[in-house]
Amino acid sequence: MQTRTKRLSRNLIPRLLRVATHVGALVPLASILWDYWFYELSADPIREITLRTGKSALILLALSLACTPLNTLFGWKQLRPLRRPLGLYAFFYATLHGLTFVWLDYGLDLGLIRDAIFQKPFALAGLATFLLLLSLALTSTRWSRRKLGKRWEQLHRLAYLAGITAGVHFLWLVKNAYTRPLLYGAVLSEQLLMRAPPVRDRILSWRTHLRERVLERSTSDA
Ligand code: HEM
Repeated sequence: MQTRTKRLSRNLIPRLLRVATHVGALVPLASILWDYWFYELSADPIREITLRTGKSALILLALSLACTPLNTLFGWKQLRPLRRPLGLYAFFYATLHGLTFVWLDYGLDLGLIRDAIFQKPFALAGLATFLLLLSLALTSTRWSRRKLGKRWEQLHRLAYLAGITAGVHFLWLVKNAYTRPLLYGAVLSEQLLMRAPPVRDRILSWRTHLRERVLERSTSDA
């Protein structure tokens, strides 16, 4: 009976996390559609959609990159399967963001789009991020993982590069309002740092030490 309850809670938590991920990731889209429907998308709806989709893509990318460091730090293994959906949602919002730019803003005029991208360095950094996310999304299937073998892990480290170029895009486009991009940069740097083998090994040995101490305490108390 006890093992059944344990198994149930073991399966329930990942399921709840998965549902929360899908629901949470779709909230920004629902909110954009709602505000569009009720004419509440500010006086400049195209800019509003650009900003909201860009922000959502960035947050979801950061959350996807946070799963591994959080597992290292706290042993939250349940977060690892969320990396893929979070990354795919980041790509989804990045696609909406890019489409808003090229379609709604520039009317699919290729000459204008090319000029805008090469004249605005922040747009070039955005494009680089989008292309990185595209390559990650295309190779995120089980089939690609099997086909690419070890190279898959190496390829998917590009997610961190996408995190960096997204940060550059963000930092470049804000004018004198550096708080948000710097906050994002700090979170990303900390995530990258925790992936470094010496730091990761140190955290893991600290966790093992802590667990042993707790176990020792509980056996001596019993
Ligand atoms: C396809 C290439 C991209 C282009 C052409 C592009 C272009 C833009 C433009 C024009 C803005 C609005 C600037 C303003 O009016 O102040 C913007 C904002 C933004 N973009 Fe992009 N972007 C691209 C890709 C991305 C990607 C892939 C991400 C994230 C993963 C991203 C994240 C952001 C963020 C966070 C903002 C600012 C949102 C805010 O201030 O709240 N962009 N982008």
